[in-house]
Amino acid sequence: MPRRVLHTDLEVITGEQTTEDYLKMQKRIGRFYLKGFLRLIAEKGKAGRFLEIGPGPGYQTAKVAERNPKSEIVAVELSPDMIAVAQSYMKQRGFSDRVRFVQGAVEDEELIKELGKFDLIYSSFSLHHWKNPVKGFQNLHRALNEDGVLLIYDLERHWLTYYLPIRRGIVESIRSSYTPKELSAMMAELNIQNYQVQRHFPYFSVSVRNR
Ligand SMILES: C[S@@+](CC[C@H](N)C(=O)[O-])C[C@H]1O[C@@H](n2cnc3c(N)ncnc32)[C@H](O)[C@@H]1O
Repeated sequence: MPRRVLHTDLEVITGEQTTEDYLKMQKRIGRFYLKGFLRLIAEKGKAGRFLEIGPGPGYQTAKVAERNPKSEIVAVELSPDMIAVAQSYMKQRGFSDRVRFVQGAVEDEELIKELGKFDLIYSSFSLHHWKNPVKGFQNLHRALNEDGVLLIYDLERHWLTYYLPIRRGIVESIRSSYTPKELSAMMAELNIQNYQVQRHFPYFSVSVRNR
């Protein structure tokens, strides 16, 4: 398997134009690239308190809020510019009263602890940006309610897509992503047992149920 290449400039996506453009991209193609992720969330059948990590401008946040009218969502996002776009999008979609954005990192133990416990914790296409995924998973696992579910969805680092001559940015995201095997190793390191890693090529997911 080709090695992981860290893509540090992708860590925080900032700039008013870039974040507005990201939302435009999501509105254009979100129904395709987020379809499998949103289906998995629906399959989990959870309701109540949700925590999202790395929502970006919030296209999928609005979808989750729309499909789960009784749920409250707290979304932790590193980029203040993304939060500004996401907040205005939530207002436009009428979800501001149920979706709260918090600026910060998944690795920040105190922050995640302060937010309380959740029935569903989810994230799409953010994992490959995390500086310390093991710490992130540890924080999120501890924030699960009894029978709570964690669902992390991302690109898979796969040799087929690793070498594809596609747009910069996407290739770099693929190269900085993880393999299912690396995710299993992280779960083992944290002694998390109730997990499932599933391939949905070119994506993959890891889900954990707290029992
Ligand atoms: C590629 S975007 C994904 C946006 C959206 N979830 C989607 O599916 O398109 C990754 C987002 O994760 C955020 N992010 C990166 N590292 C993070 C971290 N350690 N904690 C919280 N958010 C993070 C970035 O700022 C960015 O908005």
